[in-house]
Amino acid sequence: MTSTLRLPDPGPLLDWFAGAARDLPWRTVDPLTGRRDPYRVWISEIMLQQTRAAAVIPYYERFLERYPDLDSLAAAPEDEVLKLWEGLGYYSRARNLLAAARRVAALPADARPRTAASLRGLPGIGPYTAGAIASLSYDEAAPAVDGNVLRVLCRLLDQDWQRGDSAARRHAETLLAAWYAAYPAASPGRLNEALIELGARLCLPRRPFCGDCPFAAACAARRSGRAPGLPLPPARRPRPLELMAPLFLLHGGALLCLRRPPAGLLGGLWQVPFVDGLLHPGRRAAIEAALEPHCADARFIWQPLGSHRHVFSHLEWELGAESLTISGSSASPDPAVLTASLEAFLSTQSPPPDTALWLTAAERHELAFPAALHGFLARL
Ligand code: ADE
Repeated sequence: MTSTLRLPDPGPLLDWFAGAARDLPWRTVDPLTGRRDPYRVWISEIMLQQTRAAAVIPYYERFLERYPDLDSLAAAPEDEVLKLWEGLGYYSRARNLLAAARRVAALPADARPRTAASLRGLPGIGPYTAGAIASLSYDEAAPAVDGNVLRVLCRLLDQDWQRGDSAARRHAETLLAAWYAAYPAASPGRLNEALIELGARLCLPRRPFCGDCPFAAACAARRSGRAPGLPLPPARRPRPLELMAPLFLLHGGALLCLRRPPAGLLGGLWQVPFVDGLLHPGRRAAIEAALEPHCADARFIWQPLGSHRHVFSHLEWELGAESLTISGSSASPDPAVLTASLEAFLSTQSPPPDTALWLTAAERHELAFPAALHGFLARL
């Protein structure tokens, strides 16, 4: 039972962290207060979810340059925030960040949340992020258990925990609360960040560097030899594969683009119509026949743009893209009518026709498109 488990003396971990901590841009401390800016901690912790520090750094720096504080972020248009996030993935993080910033900015300064309990429940802020912001900025004794920390504790105590299991996370939180209480001289924020660092640098998923680990002597999974396999993998559901043909409809140099619904996968991003399945001569002819009544005297020119497989956490897309240039018709066909005429061919991943617009390359440059389409867009 975990109730009898204890975490070891944190001394060796803190000594290691003092020498090994990376100089990351979100770790800057205000020289006057000796504290970290909670806004900067918040942005970094959201970006670092599912994403490695090296990938986050350039996004973080651009983001902070554009939105140096809560009020500047709260005033930003969503398209602009999504554009800055483009390529980082998990776009609900950006939408939630903006929604939370607007909610907090509307509060008087003295009513803004500073504790883990009051941060929790803001859009995009779950137990980990609330604990990380409260402990790293205000040194609250709040556990911050992400995948890295869960792995470190699971191995230290040699537990049969599963990755991503919420009961295991709650066990870990209880153990951490007892740890902060048992070592009151240690800063909870520093303990949390040292554990995060250990998980990111040495206690790695498949090949942990146990020989260099400050907790080697205390680690039960090192003794049992089970460290590389812990935590246990979650039962995996197979990822569904969606076969689709992104259709790059071009007229007079503009591209027909659609906006995805605000919530869900890639919410709020822009794309082109996705035909369900792959294209073949019969389908191309049927698509031309559907478009023809709306494009007087047009000629249709097809060109392959290549294929791309995109893997999401729960889903895969196999994309075979083609461009279809509408040539010879001078008036610009109504983009919503054109998209609606294709309705019978479109995948459920295609946004509603009433979001359709003709966008020039310069206009597209200001908007966020899924990374899965970047290669095709570059080939236009
Ligand atoms: N991953 C999550 N939080 C982090 C932090 N504060 N520093 C480095 N990597 C992290």
